[in-house]
Amino acid sequence: MNLLITGGAGFIGGNFVHYMVNKYPEYNIIVLDKLTYAGNIETLEPVIDKITFVRADIADRDAVYQIFECEKPDIVVNFAAESHVDRSIENPEIFLVTNILGTQVLMDACRKYGIKRYHQVSTDEVYGDLPLDRPDLFFTEETPIHTSSPYSASKASADLLAQAYHRTYGLPVTISRCSNNYGPYHFPEKLIPLMIANALNDKLLPVYGKGLNVRDWLYVEDHCKAIDIIIHRGRVGEVYNIGGHNEKSNIDIVKIILKLLGKPESLITYVADRKGHDMRYAIDPTKIHNELGWLPETKFEDGIVKTVNWYLENKPWWEKIISGEYMDYYAKMYENR
Ligand code: NAD
Ligand code: DAU
Repeated sequence: MNLLITGGAGFIGGNFVHYMVNKYPEYNIIVLDKLTYAGNIETLEPVIDKITFVRADIADRDAVYQIFECEKPDIVVNFAAESHVDRSIENPEIFLVTNILGTQVLMDACRKYGIKRYHQVSTDEVYGDLPLDRPDLFFTEETPIHTSSPYSASKASADLLAQAYHRTYGLPVTISRCSNNYGPYHFPEKLIPLMIANALNDKLLPVYGKGLNVRDWLYVEDHCKAIDIIIHRGRVGEVYNIGGHNEKSNIDIVKIILKLLGKPESLITYVADRKGHDMRYAIDPTKIHNELGWLPETKFEDGIVKTVNWYLENKPWWEKIISGEYMDYYAKMYENR
């Protein structure tokens, strides 16, 4: 089995590469990644001898076709994306190029060279948000697409394109829409790793607005397991929501992290809210559970301890990141906010 994983040097893609290398040592795994600011070859260091790594842009048609010609993938799992909402608000264009056009190029390659499965890794953000005062409401696969940020609009566009390629060209597509992930190798621009890194450095913890927005957190390995099941047993043409009924407000997450690290709540600072900030995400995972038997295995209480410990034990991985161009990003996003 030739498995092409795009965006495999990023957070979830990297965890997925580790997971698949260990679970399917007989597979030929090819990782395609542009190594943007969010891609880190060191994430792949523990498995680098067991994969083929190609540095390329999914929106570069010639490069992608060449990889398909050489590697003849049977399955493609597309994690490659610009993934940070705040960056999409600052500069939407690269989100459209990578997330929409890049997806199109990959699917054109799949049509041209033939494929058993193309899997599009999407997000619950395509459904927009839910109100805080309606805890009975959840995102199902039937919830209308209703995006808020340039990031989520670009991801929704890619989903629609994938569904169109299935219907029009018969491309064997599946799509998964997952809630917020956390775990090892998470880039420290996102809430949980940013708060861990700042707390460890006794820096202020910038909470947007009042910190009441709710996210539905899933340990990254559970997401990897769900995708493994979908690419092998999921029905072609279908969308599967992935989430584990683990809703927490941002302020609660930040307080949990401070407590685990033995740091004071006086480090919390409330800053200007994100523009268009989604209030609440909450996934209904009934379909993937009933059809494919998937259920999350890691409880949040355990997953967050594992995550904090990973950041304590792997300081060189994230300290290198936050000492580089990240410093300019941080100053731009958070100074005078
Ligand atoms: P990430 O930003 O950590 O990693 C993205 C990876 O894609 C990086 O390695 C980057 O170098 C690579 N990349 C970016 N542009 C590329 C291009 N043009 N060509 C090739 N490679 C490119 O993102 P992540 O958090 O791991 O998210 C992975 C996927 O999962 C994304 O599609 C995202 O929309 C989706 N998703 C993320 C979450 C989450 O909580 N992080 C939840 C649901 C869905
Ligand atoms: O729901 C899935 C999505 O989850 C993925 O599609 C995205 O790729 C991923 O980045 C994530 O999006 P969010 O916007 O939910 O994640 P982020 O970590 O950026 O923010 C989580 C919440 O924390 C959100 O309500 C904003 C808030 N926040 C974030 C940062 C970085 C803060 O209060 N302070 C911060 O400094």
